[in-house]
Amino acid sequence: MKQICVVGVGYVGLVTAACFADLGNRVTALDVNEQRVENLKKGIMPIYEPGLDELVKRNVNSGRITFTTSYKEALKDAEYAFIAVGTPSDAKGAADLQYVAAAAKSIAENMNAPLIIINKSTVPIGTGDWVADIVKGA
Ligand SMILES: NC(=O)c1ccc[n+]([C@@H]2O[C@H](COP(=O)([O-])OP(=O)(O)OC[C@H]3O[C@@H](n4cnc5c(N)ncnc54)[C@H](O)[C@@H]3O)[C@@H](O)[C@H]2O)c1
Repeated sequence: MKQICVVGVGYVGLVTAACFADLGNRVTALDVNEQRVENLKKGIMPIYEPGLDELVKRNVNSGRITFTTSYKEALKDAEYAFIAVGTPSDAKGAADLQYVAAAAKSIAENMNAPLIIINKSTVPIGTGDWVADIVKGA
């Protein structure tokens, strides 16, 4: 059993969080979108994915998944933090990494023990080092 934080509960983050919880891990799923988090606490899904609402409900009821807007709360005891925020393409097709940068900075400012950060968002090669530099510099 691992303690996992998932940052961004959109298509990728919510499915990732629910599946890790269903495998028996403890997951705290975080988003800056307060409405999205409030809805998830009430069992209202932001996206449609077959079976997702049952999966989330089962793991909420068992206490394996919780939702928050607080980085401090989400990172408490976390061993892994998955960044799953959006990386929309610009006009030239390059990924906009501003949300990844903001997530990395917030993780760095709120983590209180060593943890492994995983870029789950679609990002260019080299982003792992770039995120590590953001975390070290925060
Ligand atoms: N949707 C897909 O099928 C799919 C498939 C493969 C890869 N991806 C990639 O996965 C990543 C996420 O895509 P998605 O479709 O899940 O995006 P999404 O827009 O559905 O969800 C992103 C979430 O991140 C949240 N967020 C933004 N900034 C944040 C921050 N600083 N801290 C916390 N939360 C923040 C947003 O509020 C939103 O809820 C992107 O890089 C995308 O390219 C998506």
